[in-house]
Amino acid sequence: MQIIPTLTVLFLSVAVTQAGIVNRILQYIPSLGLGGGNEQEVSFCNGYDCPKFEKLEKHDVYEVRKYVPTTWVVTTKSDSGSSTFMKLFYYIQGSNAESKKIAMTVPVIGNVTHGEGRTTMGFYLPPKVGVPPAPTDATVFIRRLPELTAYVIEFGGYANAEKNEAKANELRTALNEANVQYEKDYYFTAGYDSPMKFWNRHNEVWFIAK
Ligand SMILES: *[C@@H]1O[C@H](CO)[C@@H](O)[C@H](O)[C@H]1NC(C)=O
Repeated sequence: MQIIPTLTVLFLSVAVTQAGIVNRILQYIPSLGLGGGNEQEVSFCNGYDCPKFEKLEKHDVYEVRKYVPTTWVVTTKSDSGSSTFMKLFYYIQGSNAESKKIAMTVPVIGNVTHGEGRTTMGFYLPPKVGVPPAPTDATVFIRRLPELTAYVIEFGGYANAEKNEAKANELRTALNEANVQYEKDYYFTAGYDSPMKFWNRHNEVWFIAK
């Protein structure tokens, strides 16, 4: 009986083709205006604008990246994580002095301060935004970061405070062993995916070089 293998092959090739089409469509979504074209092709940026960096070194646990100066819209922690996120989301949706809409970017960063948990959250504002419009919410700020060197540990799945902390500890141990100098009082978390992306998720924890 040939029919079963033939059907299996047929089914598999249809499944592969379908997956190809779905991927193709997903790839187009940013260029349809949700993302707005990327300045640097980095797969984990998913086609969205993300800060430019140069990879300087690659180690077992971490890599070393040199970032260009960047601009962020940031807000301090409020009662719930989601309302912190929404404040930034409203800003890019037009809650700003010019009612300007800004395309979503990645990553969403958090500054986790030793003993205090996450103190701030920020969205990246790419150079094409120009001078960022002033936020209308008094708890939202524009913050510029100078050129910086980051020690970065990457991980998959869904991030949460415990996982970030565990990864920060792993990175801290590796950095201390390598005897490098870094800011010890805080670390950055970087998330690149919407909650609706189920596979191939990408998260990072950064320590900033001194
Ligand atoms: C992170 O937060 C700490 C505590 O508020 C602050 O001292 C530090 O400057 C922040 N780091 C950056 C790069 O914003």
